[in-house]
Amino acid sequence: MERYLLKDDIWWTGAIDWNVRDFHGYETLRGTTYNAYLILDEKVALVDGCREGFGPEVLARVRGCCGLRPVDYLIINHVEPDHSGAIPWLVEQLSPERVFCSKRARDVLAVYYGGATVDGWNIQVVATGDEVSLGRNTLQFIEAPMLHWPDSMFTYVKQAKTLLPNDAFGQHLATSKRFADEVDLSVVMEEASKYYANILMPFGTQIQKMLAKIGELGLEIEAIGPSHGVIWRRPEDVARIVEAYAGWSDFQAPERVSLIYDTMWHSTEQMTMAIADGVAQEGVDCVVARLSSNPRSEVARMVLESRAFLVGSPTLNNNMFPTVGEFLTYIRGLRPRKRISGAYGSCGWAGGAVKQIDAELRTLGLDMVEPIEVKYRPSEDQLAACVELGRQVAGKVKTAGE
Ligand code: FEO
Repeated sequence: MERYLLKDDIWWTGAIDWNVRDFHGYETLRGTTYNAYLILDEKVALVDGCREGFGPEVLARVRGCCGLRPVDYLIINHVEPDHSGAIPWLVEQLSPERVFCSKRARDVLAVYYGGATVDGWNIQVVATGDEVSLGRNTLQFIEAPMLHWPDSMFTYVKQAKTLLPNDAFGQHLATSKRFADEVDLSVVMEEASKYYANILMPFGTQIQKMLAKIGELGLEIEAIGPSHGVIWRRPEDVARIVEAYAGWSDFQAPERVSLIYDTMWHSTEQMTMAIADGVAQEGVDCVVARLSSNPRSEVARMVLESRAFLVGSPTLNNNMFPTVGEFLTYIRGLRPRKRISGAYGSCGWAGGAVKQIDAELRTLGLDMVEPIEVKYRPSEDQLAACVELGRQVAGKVKTAGE
């Protein structure tokens, strides 16, 4: 299979999953990759595994790089099954002399694959600052809890100044190209943003700590090889994704309002369009998504990329619309911060949805505007109030950016 040189002695030996469309609830409309990296030195090291079923593709690329030379070391940066699912099979095929991972990773591997199996892998537990020499290259390990799970760690190849941070800086993007500079960068950044929103948004504090730790350790980074998507190798691309992470983890966002809603008989939709008009009147960007027509993962990205988001719903059987309930459950887990938010919607003879949404959004500690609820169909005056709400939110968005 095709070999791809990342830098110096580091080769990409991953697998491409063109067809995955549901990644634990995240609609991956462009598929993904499971990146593994082989470092060819006096000792040969494989960094990361892949999802169950993709082991043969990784093995074919490994063998394409090193022939029948033994793979001496296996580094497991993260145990989520999209990276560890094929590890038992790969260990069987490659028989590495030693396996390196964090203490938490070893414990979870034992749960997933059985203590007796994992005990046979000759695991060496490593922690931040620990190093292993391959000959010309030295690997340094940096624990990165919650990026994405408690067990996660990064591997830094010192001589190549290359960071292999597993889930961090990734994108769910299947492509025949391996590097960000070979693909439309607007697509790469869109997928990086969506990935951050859906996978890493709850962990802003940990990401800030990780960025500080990289600074403290004085790591120079010339290339970043994440475990999903394309590799960042040009200085401007490395700077771009690191700066994006600094901004996202601090919940910075463009001057934009997202209107996220669903509708039964188009009353809530009419309100949405009136609010959107009010936002636009103030010269602020506005994006609109009906929940039943848009993937959840894209709507989560809208929340990441907007300084304000309002949620609209009709009342159905005294409750919010089911798609709105699903969205709020999802967004509660993603824990957005530093956002202006609010609720609006329509009802028939008795309300319920708007009050529920308002209460739910308040639990997130957002900067809330007063809700608007109308009965049956919004009147001219009520639509004018919606326009005014849009103008008010846009005004707050502009002030928040000062
Ligand atoms: Fe790509 Fe947390 O696994």
